[in-house]
Amino acid sequence: MYDPVGAVYKAVGEAPFYKLVDEFYLRVAADPLLRPMYPEDLTLPKKHLAQFLVQRTGGPTTYSDERGHPRMRGRHMPFKIGQAERDAWMKHMTEALDQVPELAENRQALWDFFDNFATFMINQPG
Ligand code: HEM
Repeated sequence: MYDPVGAVYKAVGEAPFYKLVDEFYLRVAADPLLRPMYPEDLTLPKKHLAQFLVQRTGGPTTYSDERGHPRMRGRHMPFKIGQAERDAWMKHMTEALDQVPELAENRQALWDFFDNFATFMINQPG
């Protein structure tokens, strides 16, 4: 099946993903529900998310070279992710997408990917 997300890197390169992640974490940093889940220094979470997105969209595999298989659901198990956390995450990512015009053409494909992936990360009822 055609994977539209897998073609985005080729079209835009890596810079827009770093912009997206900066915008996203600006919002996470101000979110009382999500902020406590992350380490005080957001440098590594930013780097890992950007590298993961570059890899997932067809770019270099630096993420897996350094971190191994993504196994994202497993990596999120230590955190309590219910509907509220998922919706907060999506809200910040949706706003972040709106701040990166370079991704406008692929906004819907990326939004759909994030929407599904965020639901998949839910590991707690309620
Ligand atoms: C649904 C709500 C979500 C919550 C509350 C959440 C929360 C977190 C937290 C707390 C971390 C650990 C940060 C750290 O200590 O370094 C993390 C890591 C990460 N998250 Fe999420 N996340 C969510 C959804 C997603 C989604 C949808 C994606 C991808 C599309 C994603 C990708 C990542 C990546 C790549 C990492 C770094 C993993 C690693 O290599 O250590 N997350 N997330």
